[in-house]
Amino acid sequence: MVDVILGLQWGDEGKGKIADYLTPKYDVVARFQGGPNAGHSLEFEGKKFVLNTIPSGIFHKTTTNVIGNGVVIDPVRLFQEIDRFIAEVPDYADRLLVSKKAHLILPTHRIVDAALENAKGDKKIGSTLRGIGPTYRDKTGRHGVRVGDVLLPDFKARYEEARDRHLEQVKWLEYTDFDLEKEEAEFYAALEQLKKLQLINSEYFINKCIKDGKKILAEGAQGSMLDIDFGTYPYVTSSNTITAGVCNGLGIAPKHIGKVYGIFKAYCTRVGSGPFPTEDFGEEGEWLRKQGNEFGATTGRPRRTGWLDLVALRYTCMLNGVDELIMMKSDILCGSDKIRVCESYKIGNETTDEVPASLVESGVEAVYTNLPGWVGPLNYAEGFDNLEGTFKDYIQYIENAIDTRIKIISLGPERENTIVR
Ligand code: IMP
Repeated sequence: MVDVILGLQWGDEGKGKIADYLTPKYDVVARFQGGPNAGHSLEFEGKKFVLNTIPSGIFHKTTTNVIGNGVVIDPVRLFQEIDRFIAEVPDYADRLLVSKKAHLILPTHRIVDAALENAKGDKKIGSTLRGIGPTYRDKTGRHGVRVGDVLLPDFKARYEEARDRHLEQVKWLEYTDFDLEKEEAEFYAALEQLKKLQLINSEYFINKCIKDGKKILAEGAQGSMLDIDFGTYPYVTSSNTITAGVCNGLGIAPKHIGKVYGIFKAYCTRVGSGPFPTEDFGEEGEWLRKQGNEFGATTGRPRRTGWLDLVALRYTCMLNGVDELIMMKSDILCGSDKIRVCESYKIGNETTDEVPASLVESGVEAVYTNLPGWVGPLNYAEGFDNLEGTFKDYIQYIENAIDTRIKIISLGPERENTIVR
């Protein structure tokens, strides 16, 4: 069976920590979509690591890590990422498998990303500028360059054909702010390192693991509200971030999907542009940003902050078939005398429990309920039953509203700061 862990909001829910926490239970951890736009932060033994493309199981000696076909890989960034943790895991390459079908992010994909964002003026998506969108576009346009291609004798010609096509577009967009010579040199150097990794047909590997009864965890990136089909289009990423993406992104049949863990923060954040119905532009939003240290793990950008959106959470639980909820960063809300949760949306004179087809155009307004806050600190050592009453009421309130159990509650960044009910 393949269990799934994914974010239910706009990303940055804390998937890295929980995937790392769950990893010891699994033989294999696999990434199925996204790329170095992700930033999964892991903290243990006083050390902090940010993973972008590598699955969160890399720090566990007995876990095999797979970068699946649905992922887009920037070889330069991949080895920068590996350099950050290689002292901790010198034998990482023994436990890292990379799909030959994963698409490569070329230097010119990043340049096209920047050129397109630049041309969008005030309609910018707020892309991470990691080349994600242009790479997925080449994939569906059927002229992408894949990891397995690096082993082919005509790789250089394939690369140059793609590069020249991208440069035409960049020229047309009148974008000149790049140094391709330098980037190409780094790219070719990284490809030599990539060739030394275990490049495989990962769909065969994963399906064999399923057959052998191994336990597999599929680790999502970004969040369900950034899904290309169901997110706040067009302010979304370019892949299917929901459970359905696991089948495409790893090459497994739906019947092999096991438990789905959905992660959400006790409040909401978003980076980049796009609709965010519960955004708090005032002092409380600023308080959430400071308390929660809400600055991007990948880009360092300040995140937009706001309150828990139950309409969106219900929607993403439905889309993903969430079995168990995991609530992150509960400790951040300590000390607030009132906590707001969005129950429904108001559009004109109507209220609705549904996320409209286009959140961008609908002009929704969040309808809130105020709940009493809690003082804290929330002491995980004492277990759930001994936690402060108003905090337990908040948990209960969400469980009733979403009709799903909150199984794990995180009270801080360290592995130990976690309550499993
Ligand atoms: P892209 O995926 O870089 O094209 O960015 C598209 C949108 O998704 C932008 O608003 C990004 O800020 C957002 N985004 C992409 N990756 C992440 C992530 O890992 N966490 C949160 N937001 C993300």
